[in-house]
Amino acid sequence: MNSEHHNPRQVTTIKDLAKKKVNNEKIVATTCYDATMARLISFAQLDFVLIGDSLATVMMGHPNTLPVTIEHMVVYASSVSRVLQGPLLMADMPFMSYHMSPEQTYQNATRLMQQGGVHGLKLEGAAPWVLDQISHLVESGIPIMGHLGVTPQSVHQTSGYMVQGKEPSSAERLIQDAEKLDGAGVFALVLELVPAALAAEITRVVSVPVIGIGSGAQVDGQILVLQDLLGMNSSFQPKFVKKYCDLETTTVEALNTYVREVLQGEFPNATHSW
Ligand code: KIV
Repeated sequence: MNSEHHNPRQVTTIKDLAKKKVNNEKIVATTCYDATMARLISFAQLDFVLIGDSLATVMMGHPNTLPVTIEHMVVYASSVSRVLQGPLLMADMPFMSYHMSPEQTYQNATRLMQQGGVHGLKLEGAAPWVLDQISHLVESGIPIMGHLGVTPQSVHQTSGYMVQGKEPSSAERLIQDAEKLDGAGVFALVLELVPAALAAEITRVVSVPVIGIGSGAQVDGQILVLQDLLGMNSSFQPKFVKKYCDLETTTVEALNTYVREVLQGEFPNATHSW
């Protein structure tokens, strides 16, 4: 580990996140799917990291999150948990991994906690049966994060990833769903693609931290997909993403330089040889 970057710290807890909401301090999170990036994230001051089912698109090249299975999640989650130091580590319960029965939900949650090494789980939606699953998991001692607004696991039902809660009736439903999740015992709530004013209202009415993605600034914290904020894919540039660097250009330039140097006999030279 580069000692310049090494900054060991206590693992963030869900109590720390609750305190941040009370103290009006922002919570900052990103996604992660592999050990290399987990090592780099450990050098920064993120509050939590999510092994998102967005790994379907980012890591596996699928068009949406539906193909991710519990087996995939366990492999990616354990790759991160072996290395990550500092942030609270969350994982998505993938599509259909909590939909069939309480037994199936318990088994899959157990695998993610025991084999994946995560500290808590995220489930999408607030249908009555989801609220039941959440209450049972919380009663078992598993920290649960809710997810409202755009819920990518329902992409075929919603016909895409459109901003949610623009109409008064859907805005009212989102507020009610957020209150129900709060009541079911979630410790935090992700709001994806919700108008800023509605996200601010939800942040006021629920007791738990609200983490926005494409939901404006007046929430308790922000999450962005790691590869998006690092500028690794110029073909995916939604309005809500800010690129903090341009790793696509840096990576392609480095690869082209490597190819050129090998072809021209410049690499390896004496420095890289015995
Ligand atoms: O899977 C994911 O990346 C998410 C986002 C909210 C960050 O759920």
